[in-house]
Amino acid sequence: MINRQGVFKISIGFINGRFISIEEEVIPIDERGHQFGDGVYEVIRVYNSMPFMADEHLERLMRSAEAVQIEPNQSLDQLKEIINQGIEISGLTDAEVYIQVTRGISPRQHHFPQCPASLSMTIRPVRLVSEELRRNGASVTLMDDERWANCYIKSLNLLPNVLAKQAAYSAGHYEAVFIRDGLITEGSSSNVFVVKGQVVYTTPLSKKILSGITRQAVIGLCKELGIALEEKEMTTEFFMDSDEIFITSTTTELLPICSVDGQTIGDGKPGSITQRLYTAYQVLYKGTKNRQNRVIL
Ligand code: PDD
Repeated sequence: MINRQGVFKISIGFINGRFISIEEEVIPIDERGHQFGDGVYEVIRVYNSMPFMADEHLERLMRSAEAVQIEPNQSLDQLKEIINQGIEISGLTDAEVYIQVTRGISPRQHHFPQCPASLSMTIRPVRLVSEELRRNGASVTLMDDERWANCYIKSLNLLPNVLAKQAAYSAGHYEAVFIRDGLITEGSSSNVFVVKGQVVYTTPLSKKILSGITRQAVIGLCKELGIALEEKEMTTEFFMDSDEIFITSTTTELLPICSVDGQTIGDGKPGSITQRLYTAYQVLYKGTKNRQNRVIL
């Protein structure tokens, strides 16, 4: 893989001030992210060498950090600079950036230590959703939401999400969609949308779900395209009885769901409103400006 400057495209890491090889073993034994999952994170997609909706992601990172009383050592602008530097070094034009801010490195004790926060980052090539899944749609399974009460925080504590995703995968599904108190919340790593008639529905924001950046973009696109959108608490029956379902995330973008626990949704094919919104989303990210502020189309 060679980039424009004739340099190899590589996955890279960053930890507390330095860029490193992705293989380097760098996490100290007393790192609280490792010991307690005591940290928060973000995922940003890079298109055309530019991080997409970087401000929105980094603002959410700052909100997550504030919610768990972690003070990052970098400002939002400094974080953006580190990400841009990393993209440059990696030579990747399409990439996934994962950033973790933890409470730092200190001998194990539950209460907060007196130490600076840690910052780590990886930049890797994107894991693209297969063309076949995009064309035919994916299947999901419904599962009890056993996570904590503060799912609006993008916390490193992902054990219930990991277990749910694995259970879904083992049963041949792409995603687990959570139900709490009889209502649909979100996927294990995605937000959920439903189409009924000509109206798009999605779970309203609360502490029970992550305020997805892709979700936010899709809501904006609905407005732009004149598609009615309602934020609504959805029962399982409402969800199963929809014409179209799709999930959203930074890495998955918009993905049609054509089956829920073996039950076909709509006519079993990706729906027209989902397709329209996905096309509009692609136009949105293809319009991402490069560093010279020129729109790349
Ligand atoms: N996950 N809900 C949960 C629980 C998530 O983990 C994610 C994203 C989303 C969608 O958010 P966004 O559109 O901002 O990516 C919703 C990422 C992709 C991850 O953990 O890898």
